[in-house]
Amino acid sequence: MIKRKAAVIGCGGAGSQHAGGYVKLPGVEFVGAADIDLSKAEALTAQTGGRAYASYEELIAAEKPDFVSVCTREYDHEQPALFALEHGCHVLSEKLMAHSLDAGRAMLNTARKHNRLLGVNYNYRFIDSIRLLKEKLDSGVIGEIKTASFQVHAYCHHHALDLIRYLFGDMDGLNATLTEIDSERHYPWNLAHEMLYIPSYNEATVLRAGKTLVTLTASHRSFAFPLMEVEVTGAKGRILIRDMNVDSINGEMRVQLENQDERFLPGPLTLEHTFHRSIDNWVKRLNGLETDSASGEDGLQALLLESAIARSNRERSDVNLRSE
Ligand SMILES: NC(=O)c1ccc[n+]([C@@H]2O[C@H](COP(=O)([O-])OP(=O)(O)OC[C@H]3O[C@@H](n4cnc5c(N)ncnc54)[C@H](O)[C@@H]3O)[C@@H](O)[C@H]2O)c1
Repeated sequence: MIKRKAAVIGCGGAGSQHAGGYVKLPGVEFVGAADIDLSKAEALTAQTGGRAYASYEELIAAEKPDFVSVCTREYDHEQPALFALEHGCHVLSEKLMAHSLDAGRAMLNTARKHNRLLGVNYNYRFIDSIRLLKEKLDSGVIGEIKTASFQVHAYCHHHALDLIRYLFGDMDGLNATLTEIDSERHYPWNLAHEMLYIPSYNEATVLRAGKTLVTLTASHRSFAFPLMEVEVTGAKGRILIRDMNVDSINGEMRVQLENQDERFLPGPLTLEHTFHRSIDNWVKRLNGLETDSASGEDGLQALLLESAIARSNRERSDVNLRSE
């Protein structure tokens, strides 16, 4: 079997998870990793095999990978992604896809120009309870959707935005309010005027899609509490996912209809597993299969939601997403 060559750019927490996902796949050869701190690339390749490089330019020139994961920090995806796309690689970017709308559009246009695939690692799509929720919603079991509510840790805010589009489609408009406290900012994120990324303190957004209203609240809180909880109400019932936490991101799910009350406990699932499933689905997509792996277009739509939230809060106004 001819194996396709994979590599990773940026060897921190996320880069290690991507590499761990690639080495598990039989049709993939993990050829190497690059980090500006060479010792991190060396430490990673000592675990996974492949060669270590101090720059992505050297890695791509020497190894000619078929695809790379860009796992540098959120504000630093654009340049490695553009270079990789221009040198023949398909690119899976970590989220957020880019630090600005212009950068996101440049990545998408470059992928199209060079006929390469661009994807984004929205691994929360591959959580069992979320997949079950999507199945139930698509089957229409709770009827026409009336409301959905997402309560999330601030670190999962961007994942929730992707899930909202994944589950309910594109939104028509939104209105957002933030309590931002600069001293609470965890990340060196100076781009809050354009892209929110992680709300520094509290956020509440109401999104509209047709007659459906979706609320998203995010706050910083202890990891002892759930990372995410979801409730969807429909004309014929409701679905709840509770206790999605660090130890098991699956949580537990309940489907309540007028004459029926079912509980699902999909079993423990670590965040590491969600990365590996996401990598598996990205590679399947590269092999021409239909998967739920988020595309570059999904990545750009998530950026549009991010920037609309920042704008709505800044201007204290409603944002019409159909005219964006
Ligand atoms: N999908 C998820 O659930 C999830 C979870 C954690 C992090 N992430 C994402 O992964 C990305 C990386 O986050 P992290 O926590 O791994 O950060 P990190 O700081 O641990 O790792 C980033 C690495 O990139 C390296 N780097 C910086 N500039 C570089 C360059 N030009 N070339 C090569 N290497 C470079 C750094 O030296 C560092 O080792 C972010 O976009 C973050 O949002 C996603």
